[in-house]
Amino acid sequence: MWQAGPSPACLDAGLDVPPDLRQALEAGTQVYLRTPSARDEAEIIRRSLASRALHRNWVSPPKDHRAFLEWIGRMKEPSTRHFLVCRIDDGSIVGVFSLNQIVRRLFQNAYMGYYAFRPYAGMGYMTEGLQLVLRQVFTSLRLHRVEANIQPTNTASIALVKRAGFRLEGYSPKYLKISGRWRDHERWAMLIDDWKAARRRGG
Ligand SMILES: CC(C)(COP(=O)(O)OP(=O)(O)OC[C@H]1O[C@@H](n2cnc3c(N)ncnc32)[C@H](O)[C@@H]1OP(=O)(O)O)[C@@H](O)C(=O)NCCC(=O)NCCS
Repeated sequence: MWQAGPSPACLDAGLDVPPDLRQALEAGTQVYLRTPSARDEAEIIRRSLASRALHRNWVSPPKDHRAFLEWIGRMKEPSTRHFLVCRIDDGSIVGVFSLNQIVRRLFQNAYMGYYAFRPYAGMGYMTEGLQLVLRQVFTSLRLHRVEANIQPTNTASIALVKRAGFRLEGYSPKYLKISGRWRDHERWAMLIDDWKAARRRGG
């Protein structure tokens, strides 16, 4: 039986590793992270269309060919990373995390966006996926800070970052124009120090 492990190195080593997991950047007990490719277009579009009610005015994932190309094309820039959260059982794409505007030099910061797909929301997959993303953020990418801006009424999103140990830093009125309206956001962030401390506590 394959044991979930923290790094691709351990995935390469095992003879008993399912083929999909060989592409994993990180693996947990229920989900693993991998980079999207052109082959994921049909599944991502299908799941985005099926998740419209869940995504409402919060996010706009790619729902057609043109939007998918634009979305995946952003990964050519070093300032963007997309991560697919995939289920270990069957490889289904259950959600997405994106790191946008990765800024180096004095800032070493990224802005994080994310969404689950129906029918996989509310099963703990995004919670585990976020742990894996944070490992990438603070080890492979060696960033100092990650920030998520969340509308105050988005309780599921606030619960997700709180569970991971993000700190509420402030409130930004009319911060982002989403679906045609400037919307207030809460600013949640995690520093590498917070992440290391949470790991020492076993979080
Ligand atoms: C925000 C969003 C990604 C959160 O995802 P999620 O599906 O709630 O996250 P999880 O999969 O980790 O599920 C958490 C829920 O599963 C439950 N759960 C079940 N098993 C669990 C486990 N092993 N570990 C953690 N939670 C578990 C938790 O109790 C929690 O339920 P609760 O909210 O009723 O307490 C999702 O709601 C979403 O896609 N929203 C629309 C897009 C969006 O708002 N994006 C963010 C914009 S800022």
